[in-house]
Amino acid sequence: MIDAALRYSVPAKFFHWLSAATILTAIVLGFAMLESDPGPRQNQFYDLHRSFGFLILLLTAARLSWRLYSPPPPMVAGLPVWQERAARVTHAALYILLLVMPFVGWAGTSAFGARISIFGLFDLPMILEKDEAVSKVLLPLHGALGLTLCALLFMHIGAALFHHFVRKDDTLRRMLPGG
Ligand code: HEM
Ligand code: HEM
Repeated sequence: MIDAALRYSVPAKFFHWLSAATILTAIVLGFAMLESDPGPRQNQFYDLHRSFGFLILLLTAARLSWRLYSPPPPMVAGLPVWQERAARVTHAALYILLLVMPFVGWAGTSAFGARISIFGLFDLPMILEKDEAVSKVLLPLHGALGLTLCALLFMHIGAALFHHFVRKDDTLRRMLPGG
């Protein structure tokens, strides 16, 4: 059993795994909608992608508020300094992307002039005037940030598996339910 002071709190774990599922869903929908043929199915993918993207914004804001109130445990003992730094930089970059990406997607979609319906419940307000030239800058930027996020997630997940199976330390265990 890992000492409570060295484990992530129950809300931190809940936010982490719920965010992970939501983000992977948004990424899969992001690629699926660009790959699918124009039509009602593609529109449905777009609606769902934007809805999950907006959910990520809310979840990340709630998660960072919780993190301020209840800071994470110190990293596992005995890590080389470079690994500790790499983890801090990767986590910070993930949080920044999770806050910035939804706004860039939202702004780009506003400039494109498409409606943003959140799970059919309500519409998001347009945050930019319709302007195709602006959408042609913002949407590819959103796509490039999406690819950056995917690369960081590969590193992040790879690092978690490396800790668990190669270093055999508590890094992954302390983020798992029960822990
Ligand atoms: C953190 C949340 C989000 C993630 C991880 C995400 C991820 C992605 C990914 C991976 C793609 C495909 C990129 C490509 O291959 O070019 C994409 C495209 C897109 N996303 Fe998001 N997205 C998020 C939030 C949003 C939000 C909130 C909106 C709108 C309200 C949005 C609107 C779009 C649009 C319109 C595209 C198509 C861009 C194009 O036509 O090139 N996304 N997103
Ligand atoms: C797919 C979306 C994911 C995102 C956006 C994400 C993001 C993050 C972030 C931001 C942290 C830092 C938490 C903090 O200290 O504030 C974190 C921690 C962690 N994540 Fe993820 N994660 C994802 C998926 C995964 C997966 C699939 C695994 C396991 C294979 C994983 C394993 C971990 C572990 C073990 C930690 C704790 C690291 C430590 O103790 O320093 N994550 N994650």
